[in-house]
Amino acid sequence: MAARVLVVGSGGREHTLAWSLARSPHVRQVLVAPGNAGTAGSEKISNAAISISDHSALAQFCKDENIEFVVVGPEAPLAAGMVGDLAAAGVRCFGPTAQAAQLESSKRFAKEFMDRHGIPTARWRAFTELEEARSFILSADFPALVVKASGLAAGKGVIVAASREEACRAVQDIMQDKAFGAAGETVVIEELLEGEEVSCLCFTDGRTVAPMPPAQDHKRLLEGDRGPNTGGMGACCPAPQVSKDLLLKIKNAILQRTVDGMQQEGTPYTGVLYAGVMLTRDGPKVLEFNCRFGDPECQVGDPPAS
Ligand code: AMP
Ligand code: GLY
Repeated sequence: MAARVLVVGSGGREHTLAWSLARSPHVRQVLVAPGNAGTAGSEKISNAAISISDHSALAQFCKDENIEFVVVGPEAPLAAGMVGDLAAAGVRCFGPTAQAAQLESSKRFAKEFMDRHGIPTARWRAFTELEEARSFILSADFPALVVKASGLAAGKGVIVAASREEACRAVQDIMQDKAFGAAGETVVIEELLEGEEVSCLCFTDGRTVAPMPPAQDHKRLLEGDRGPNTGGMGACCPAPQVSKDLLLKIKNAILQRTVDGMQQEGTPYTGVLYAGVMLTRDGPKVLEFNCRFGDPECQVGDPPAS
C-alpha cells in the first residue's frame, strides 16, 4: 500500500501523529489540515490549506487529493460529526462518530453512561438551574467538590473548589455569567477524588481494546501545584504508578466495559478511547473520558530506533 493520509488538527499531538504515520512504509504522503510550523514542508509531510469545518468540502478535497485515510486529532471536529460525514461520503476515517464522542462532549452523558454500566467514578449530580446547584453545594455530604461545565471547554471547564464558597462562585460564573458559553448550560458537580491521576488510553475497533502504555501529564499551572488546572503541560510515559496488574484491572473494569456498553447501546465506539483515571484508595475511578489521543500524552515516549 502507498497511502496518502490526512491528519486533522494543528497541535503538537497532530505533529506527532503526522511524524509517526510518515515513518510507516505503508504511508507515502501525510497532509495536515491546518497543521502548524512543525508540519510544514518536509519530504513526506505538508500542510493543506483547507477548512476543516465544512465537512462536504473536506470530503471533496480528500477525493481530489486521493486521500485514503483521515486521522482526526482534536475533540471538536469529532464532536461536530466529522467521522460520520466523511464516512457517508466514502472517505475512511479514524475516530468515533459524534454520538460516540459524547463520552467526551457531554460530561452528563458520560456520568449517566458510567452509572448504567457500573464503571467506577466519583459520585455526582447534574443541574441546569443555578439555585438548585447552589443549594446542592451547600448541603452535599461530599468532603470537597469539583464543578464542571458539561460541554466542551478546551480543558478549562473544571474547577476543583477549595471551599463551598468557591464552588458557588464557579456555578455562578458558568451558569449565570456564561464563562464557557453553551458548554455550561448543564453543570456537573461531583465529589473530589484524591490520589494520583493517570491517562489510560486504548485503541478500539468497537469490540476489542488494545491499551497503550499508561501516561501521566502535569495539570496544575503554578509551582507546587497551586495554580488552576490546564489541559496538561508535559507528560511522562509509561507512568510508574500503574503496574501490569493495575493496567489489566483498568482495561477490564473501565476500557472494555465502556466499549462493550457503547456497543450494547447501539453507539459503537471506535478509535482512541482515553480514560482519565484517579488511583484512589478504593481503586481506580474515572475522572473523564476523552475521545482522542491526549495532548501532551501523544508526544511522549521513546522514539523508535531508526
Ligand atoms: P475532566 O475534564 O473532567 O477530567 O477534569 C479535568 C481535570 O480536573 C482532571 O484531569 C483532574 O485533574 C481534575 N478533576 C476532575 N474531576 C475531579 C474529581 N472528581 N476529583 C479530583 N480532581 C478532578
Ligand atoms: N492531556 C489531557 C488531554 O489531552 O485531555
